Amino acid sequence: MRQSLVIGNWKMNGTRESAKALAQGIIAGLGSSSAELAICVPYIHIADISALVNGTALGLGSQNIADKASGAYTGEISASMLSEFGCKYALVGHSERRSYYGDTDASVAARFCQAQEKGIIPVLCVGETLEEREQDKTFAVINEQLDAVISAAGIAAFSKAVIAYEPVWAIGTGKTATDEQAQEVHHYIRQYIAAKDQSIAENLQILYGGSAKPDNAQGLFAMPDIDGGLIGGASLDAESFLKIYNSTKAV
Ligand code: 13P
Repeated sequence: MRQSLVIGNWKMNGTRESAKALAQGIIAGLGSSSAELAICVPYIHIADISALVNGTALGLGSQNIADKASGAYTGEISASMLSEFGCKYALVGHSERRSYYGDTDASVAARFCQAQEKGIIPVLCVGETLEEREQDKTFAVINEQLDAVISAAGIAAFSKAVIAYEPVWAIGTGKTATDEQAQEVHHYIRQYIAAKDQSIAENLQILYGGSAKPDNAQGLFAMPDIDGGLIGGASLDAESFLKIYNSTKAV
């Protein structure tokens, strides 16, 4: 059975002090759930938060990762730098990166590979826009986003990766996918991977992201192919983030 996983994506929020206070609040309320909890914080806060999560059950991650190992790439942060600060996860291909900063399927695949080179678990974000959904292109978009990574990294790489399904129309809009809409796509993703490797698909954690909140998380997480969440806005408050974490199914 797959372990549940909830990851907070703080995006570009917080001061140095508020970030530390939020991490401390989360750690204080962790309890003894069998599910895993992690936070993907702004790069600049990674050193501070790394010291706080050290020795606790709270995992740390970055919101992006360079597509190259090292060298003359001004402004980038490499996998080895992140790994030195104890990052366990790195988001790759978040829709905000794809749409505002030009991350392409090819660069997302390169970031995915760079993360794995250093033992960091890439959290590959996929999802369709509203326009694509209305044109019945959801599955085609997801195929393309997955294929780029499968052809660069190989299917076996998915034994050490997480996928996050984040419908772009649900991110930060308050419009959550219904439990059934999300389950349909999660099931599709799992079947797509299963067609290439059954056992990897069965063990793959697929998270839902997009306006997940304390009052809708339980319904989403109860779905058979939804293994947890990637949480934006609601992860900026320790109490609501922990409520979402405590809504995961027991394994
Ligand atoms: P919201 O939870 O704020 O909709 O953000 C989702 C997201 O983008 C997480 O990566």
